[in-house]
Amino acid sequence: MQNVRTYVEEHKQRFLNELIELLRIPSVSADSAYSQDMLDTAEAVANALRTAGCDTVEICETQGYPIVYGEKRIGEDRPTVLVYGHYDVQPPDPLDLWDSPPFEPVIKTTSLHPDGAIFARGASDDKGQFYMHVKALEYMLRSNSLPCNIKFMIEGEEEVGSKSLSAFVKENHEKLANDIILISDTGMIANEVPSITTGLRGLSYVEVEVTGPNRDLHSGLYGGAVANPINILTKMIASLHDEKNHITIPGFYDKVEELSMEERTEMAKAPFDLEEYKSALSIEAVYGEEGYSTNERNAIRPTLDVNGIWGGYTGEGAKTVIASKAYAKISMRLVPNQDWQEITALFKQHFESIAPAGVQVKVTAHHGGQAYVTPIDHIGYQAASKAYETTFGKAPVPQRGGGSIPIVALFEEELNSKTILMGFGLDSNAIHSPNEHFGIWNYLKGIETIPYFYKYFAELST
Ligand code: BES
Ligand code: MN
Ligand code: MN
Repeated sequence: MQNVRTYVEEHKQRFLNELIELLRIPSVSADSAYSQDMLDTAEAVANALRTAGCDTVEICETQGYPIVYGEKRIGEDRPTVLVYGHYDVQPPDPLDLWDSPPFEPVIKTTSLHPDGAIFARGASDDKGQFYMHVKALEYMLRSNSLPCNIKFMIEGEEEVGSKSLSAFVKENHEKLANDIILISDTGMIANEVPSITTGLRGLSYVEVEVTGPNRDLHSGLYGGAVANPINILTKMIASLHDEKNHITIPGFYDKVEELSMEERTEMAKAPFDLEEYKSALSIEAVYGEEGYSTNERNAIRPTLDVNGIWGGYTGEGAKTVIASKAYAKISMRLVPNQDWQEITALFKQHFESIAPAGVQVKVTAHHGGQAYVTPIDHIGYQAASKAYETTFGKAPVPQRGGGSIPIVALFEEELNSKTILMGFGLDSNAIHSPNEHFGIWNYLKGIETIPYFYKYFAELST
């Protein structure tokens, strides 16, 4: 039977076409206007799993959007790999900043993708990435080379906090039992610098509301004499960082895992070009917590960021008004040992305590999750590392990631299994932004690399 590289080469046009069809369905989980599209996408994913060769495929109903589950068992004595991914995508707005419509995929070349990239919402996060696993399964079954049992679990609420999946995991320990969890929903350093994500940050997401007077007021008649909720809110937010960009919430850093100098030195060996980083973002300088490098700031240090802020008059022209209310959505990225519920409570307590007389403050917790770390001496990591070495011709660099997939820590807690994050995207893929894309080279390289993970994992398991 053919080797995987030849198989991918022969079938690549079909692999692209299939992904493009999946990307056409606007599976936006955050907006209920797309709920039928969500169900259609779940259906399409289930069909893809059946076609690839799963012998059990189910669309599992939940309180929210369905979870697509599929299985291929080859023997009780074989190790079991659970593949996780998500078929939901982020809302595409602002639409006017897209060069082509988000749900009409097009292939274009870019300087980083001379072989072309597919531009569409979800191309990289996460449809393009989980679909690599579906095609890798197809190859392994057609070439009779699948050495492990496989379970697929593709959810539809990752971008909105994985609430239904949390319940599903808690209720289905046996069904989901596995030896390792495999996910492609992260990135790597560069196509010439393969890397494996060994950490994810946790998250605490809150919304704050500051209320002043009981109605919007004339800013001349009342201005200067009553607390303006927007002035107050921005002042309160500004006070959450000190002049060194440390977060000022008491107790916030108490449990933060501090890396040793050796670990930091090891991290600093990962290739990184600051000038390139700045120019890719059109910024003249980076910014962040004193005493840490850019890569440390976005991976091993916790953060606090305002994601959105509103209130008062934002329409055309000018209106003189002191708004009754001001709002902000704030996220805190957390690192190992910080507990998201504890941090949420610390935030609430602190934010309420710094409110001056004359306003009322309400803090509402949204979702959250714990940070996660994959040890590099785990056989799952080693299998992945050997797989990359085989197809990229060099060993991957282990790298902590700054993003969050909160369900991963729950997998460890509930299913007692480690997760290997084999992501093939690039930071420049513009996930969550206009013009999201996924390199065709990356997509095909992923399909080529994944079967080797199974091969080496099976070997290392015996
Ligand atoms: N795939 C991303 C997470 C990611 C991307 C991790 C790149 C590392 C590198 C995921 O879909 C995502 O966007 N997660 C959210 C959290 C979720 C609770 C909304 C995030 O990180 O903001
Ligand atoms: Mn994702
Ligand atoms: Mn995402």
